[in-house]
Amino acid sequence: MRKTLLLSAVLASLLSLSAFAVQDQAISEDSLGLYNSSVYDVLDPSVVNYGGGDPGTNKRAARSYNSAPPMITHTTKDMVPITRDFNLCKDCHVQPDLIGQKITAGMPIPSPASHYVDVKKGQLHMARWNCTQCHAPQAKVDVLVKSTFKKAK
Ligand code: HEC
Ligand code: HEC
Repeated sequence: MRKTLLLSAVLASLLSLSAFAVQDQAISEDSLGLYNSSVYDVLDPSVVNYGGGDPGTNKRAARSYNSAPPMITHTTKDMVPITRDFNLCKDCHVQPDLIGQKITAGMPIPSPASHYVDVKKGQLHMARWNCTQCHAPQAKVDVLVKSTFKKAK
């Protein structure tokens, strides 16, 4: 009994010590986040202009790594947001008959077999409905944090 009491006293003092240590290292709000200012400042972030020409006029982008969702090379103007009743992406890219066929410039790349519940019937898996959840359009912007990530060869 005594031993446990002693042990808990030691533990309690250790805990309060570490609480002090944490307090000492408090992070100032000026150094939180990616912006070099207080978290209380309401900044006006620069507007991002997504580029890309009309579908069928762009070169395909290199994949960042094996099995990465490929980047959207064309403009997505008037195609987003995707809603329950509006999905233009599907109209061009749900083309199960084209899977494995030779795709020439200007042709929409068919969504791969992984995107369907039933490839033969061309039945899209609902988990793939919101294409832009995984496929991102492209923009030329200054990066907030430099990355040393290199594309896969
Ligand atoms: C009018 C037809 C059309 C529509 C609508 C369309 N695309 Fe495309 N998409 C294409 C064509 C054609 C390409 C071939 C590359 C190019 O020209 O940009 C392509 C390329 C892509 C690629 C690159 C694939 C790869 O393997 O390199 C992705 C990803 C993509 N589109 C996603 C989307 C998404 C997401 C939407 C909806 C926001 C969409 N597309 C709407 C026709 C279309
Ligand atoms: C949950 C994430 C996710 C969603 C949602 C999604 N995709 Fe993909 N997509 C991927 C990944 C990952 C790949 C690469 C897979 C691979 O290489 O097998 C891919 C590949 C593709 C490709 C390239 C096929 C090729 O042969 O190069 C196209 C085109 C495409 N998706 C279109 C779409 C469209 C259109 C939608 C919406 C209807 C969509 N995707 C929704 C993750 C997603």
